Amino acid sequence: MKFNVVVVGSTGLVGQRLVSMLSKHQWFNLIGITASKDKANKKYKDVVKWSLENKMPENVEEMIVYDTNIENINNLKPDIVFTSLPTDISKDFDIQLVKQGYVVISHASNNRMDKDVPLLNPEVNADHINVLKLQANRWKGRLIKVPNCATSILTLALKPIYDNFGLRHVFVSTMQALSGAGINGVSSMAILDNIIPYIEHEEEKIENESLKILGELSNESIKPNESFYVSASVHRVNVLEGHLESVFLKTDNDVSVEEIKKSLIEFKENKIKNLNLPTKPSQPIIVRNEIDRPQPRLDRNEGNGMSIVVGRIRKDNRNWIKFNVLGHNTIRGAAGNGVLIGELVAKNYNDIIQ
Ligand SMILES: NC(=O)c1ccc[n+]([C@@H]2O[C@H](COP(=O)([O-])OP(=O)(O)OC[C@H]3O[C@@H](n4cnc5c(N)ncnc54)[C@H](OP(=O)(O)O)[C@@H]3O)[C@@H](O)[C@H]2O)c1
Repeated sequence: MKFNVVVVGSTGLVGQRLVSMLSKHQWFNLIGITASKDKANKKYKDVVKWSLENKMPENVEEMIVYDTNIENINNLKPDIVFTSLPTDISKDFDIQLVKQGYVVISHASNNRMDKDVPLLNPEVNADHINVLKLQANRWKGRLIKVPNCATSILTLALKPIYDNFGLRHVFVSTMQALSGAGINGVSSMAILDNIIPYIEHEEEKIENESLKILGELSNESIKPNESFYVSASVHRVNVLEGHLESVFLKTDNDVSVEEIKKSLIEFKENKIKNLNLPTKPSQPIIVRNEIDRPQPRLDRNEGNGMSIVVGRIRKDNRNWIKFNVLGHNTIRGAAGNGVLIGELVAKNYNDIIQ
C-alpha cells in the first residue's frame, strides 16, 4: 500500500526538496502541493523558483498548486501532511491539521519542545515516536517535528560518543549556509565579503533541542538529557548549502582520538537498523582523515546528502576532543530527515493513529 501525502509550503527551499524526494518515492503518492494565496490555482512550474541542482520532476511540473487552507487539505484527505512553512504560519496551521486528525511532519520550530511531541532524528532517537500516544489527550491527529538543521547534524555526531563515553560539555560554533535562511534568505549586499555572527533564536534551538533528542524515553515521555549541556555560537557564511560545525567536547572519561573515530565509524543506528527505510544512508557518519576536510562544496552530497561527514578529530592538552562536522542543511537537516521520518511513520502508521 502507498501512503497519500501532501506538501504544504511546496515552493520554498525545503518544500522543493520534499517535492523532489516524494514525487518519485516508492512508499508515497504525492497527491497535493500548497503555497501562499498568490501562487494558488497555477501550475507548479509557473510559480516555483526552482533552486535545486536536479531538474524539476516531470510529474510535478503540471500539478496545480493549492492555497494553504484546511478546506483544501480536507478535500485531498492525505494520510500524511509534510509542512514546511515559516514558523509564524506553521504554529497555527500545524494545529489546525492535527485537530482535524492528520498525521503531520512539520519542519518549523513551533511546538518542538512540547513534552508529547517527538523531535526525531531517526538514527538517534526513533524510539521517541512512542510519545505520540500522549497526544491523544489533546488532538485527533499526531504532530511530529523535524529538528533544527544544525541540531540534526550535531546530534547525529554526538550520539555514538555519548553512548560509548558519556558527555559532560559540548561547545559548538557553526558556519551555516545561506539556504538555511529560506528562498528569500539573506541579501547579497549583507553576505558578500562577509560573515554574520547572528541567526535569530538559533543558539537556543541548538542548545535545547540537542538535549531533548539525546534524552531518554521513560514512562512514555521524553526526559531531556541532564548529564551534559550544549553551548552554541552561530554564524551565517557565504556558502550555498552545507552547515559546517566546529565542535569542542569533554567526555566523562578521557578517550583517545582513535577511540572516538572508531565509535563514529562503527555507529550502528540500532534504533532503525532493521526497518529498511529507503532514505536511510548506508553509512550515516563518514569520517575523513585529510587535514582539511570536511568542506561544504566537496562533502555535502555524501549519502545523497543524508550522511554527515566528520573530520579533523583531535585533542588538546586538557583532553578536550575537537572535530568538525558537516551536513547538508536542506537534506539531512530538513527535507531528507523529514522524508526519513515519514518512512518511520509509514512503518508504524496503524499504531500511531490508534
Ligand atoms: N532552509 C533550511 O535549511 C531549513 C532547515 C530546517 C528547518 N527549516 C524550517 O522549514 C520551514 C521552511 O523553510 P524554507 O527554507 O523552505 O522557507 P522558504 O524557502 O521561505 O519557504 C517558505 C514556504 O512557505 C510558504 N508560505 C510563506 N508564507 C505563507 C503564507 N502566509 N501562507 C501560506 N504559505 C506561505 C511559501 O510559499 P510562497 O512561495 O507562496 O511564498 C513557501 O512555500 C521554516 O520554518 C524553516 O525555519 C528550514
